[in-house]
Amino acid sequence: MKVLNHISTLYRVPPGGDQGFVDAISDAALAWDGEQIVYAGPQAGLPPALASAERLDAGGRCVIPGLIDCHTHLCFGGWRGDEFAARLAGASYQDIQAAGGGINSTVARTRAASAAELAAKAGLVLADMARLGVTTVEAKSGYGLDQASEIKQLEVYRRLNDSQPLDIVPTFLGAHLVPVEYRDRRTDYLDLLCQSLIPEVAARDLARFCDVFIEDNAFTLAEGRQILETAKAHGLGLKIHADQLSAGGGAGLAAELGAVSAEHLEYASAADIQAMAEAGTVAVSLPLASMYLREPFLPARQWIEAGARVAVATDFNPGSAPSYHLHLAMTLACIHQQMTPAEVLKAATSHAARAVALHESHGSLLPGYRADFAIIDAPDINHWLYHFRPNACIATIKAGRAVFDGGL
Ligand code: NIG
Ligand code: FE
Repeated sequence: MKVLNHISTLYRVPPGGDQGFVDAISDAALAWDGEQIVYAGPQAGLPPALASAERLDAGGRCVIPGLIDCHTHLCFGGWRGDEFAARLAGASYQDIQAAGGGINSTVARTRAASAAELAAKAGLVLADMARLGVTTVEAKSGYGLDQASEIKQLEVYRRLNDSQPLDIVPTFLGAHLVPVEYRDRRTDYLDLLCQSLIPEVAARDLARFCDVFIEDNAFTLAEGRQILETAKAHGLGLKIHADQLSAGGGAGLAAELGAVSAEHLEYASAADIQAMAEAGTVAVSLPLASMYLREPFLPARQWIEAGARVAVATDFNPGSAPSYHLHLAMTLACIHQQMTPAEVLKAATSHAARAVALHESHGSLLPGYRADFAIIDAPDINHWLYHFRPNACIATIKAGRAVFDGGL
């Protein structure tokens, strides 16, 4: 049993309530027993039974639930700095992809890499994420695009889940792009996905969700429906990369199929925003991708006013979002998505947990929840998200244990 005392502000961030309801408690204490929280509330209300527990001092800093990066493409071979330079010189993301670059070039390098190489590279990223206060990471395949390489990526996630402390939630994204060798026979690739890959992924429990990139040059709405209905029949939860570069109707499909989340959504129609709000499908905003691609940011006020839950994630990948700095994504969400710091905190904790169907155990600091939290060197979250610095996180606790201690 351990108690963290002297917390200036404790953000309990319950799953219910409005986007901005974070249930902040001043002069607070937090207690946990093994992996679970047993008390989260005012210091003065700490049960006497906890008086003999081991005591830690937060030093008047604030405490938030461990951050949840609910959308990443964590495992990939190589990088694409050359394309960054080409885009700055005027080429578009879609032009580069049509010329065989973009996702295709990462596919070639991911296929060529061994599982051990991919795991070592992704492991370094996870260690850095832990230092930023992140405790759970959703991670997609989608850079293999053939049977062996898609499975290899998902096996890397399984291995990482077993070998390092952060929780990895794996998502199958075999429908990221039709790979070049199938360009003239797309239905064969759809058959591979629906008849071979999805069944193997589901049977071996290699992913919890299936995602599809619905976009010009990727998959059509009809193809997305076929893939997602197959995945659903195999027991996988659903996600969609929807309406990122054009209005393609992906958000409406996510609502109709009962997807847990849809992502990007910058071009979603008003009717689809309403449909997602009514269906309870989480809207995952990815401000780093908007920044890097110079695309519009999610009009978050419209989503929140419609009653939708908005999450914020990094979209970490080598093309559209080559950064895993969730704090930066959160600050951008404040500035460019016009969200308050409280709304953004909920977006990267409880609502992000909901986007990976973990909101009953992760993303909130309430008794019974996982003891996943971060100690932030700021008196409150307004200060934290306004004063952007290399790292304001002082310590990260995952399942009751310190995975990063920067001088608590
Ligand atoms: O989420 N939109 C599609 N997929 C990624 C980009 C992947 C890449 O460029 O390698 C995204 O932005
Ligand atoms: Fe993505």
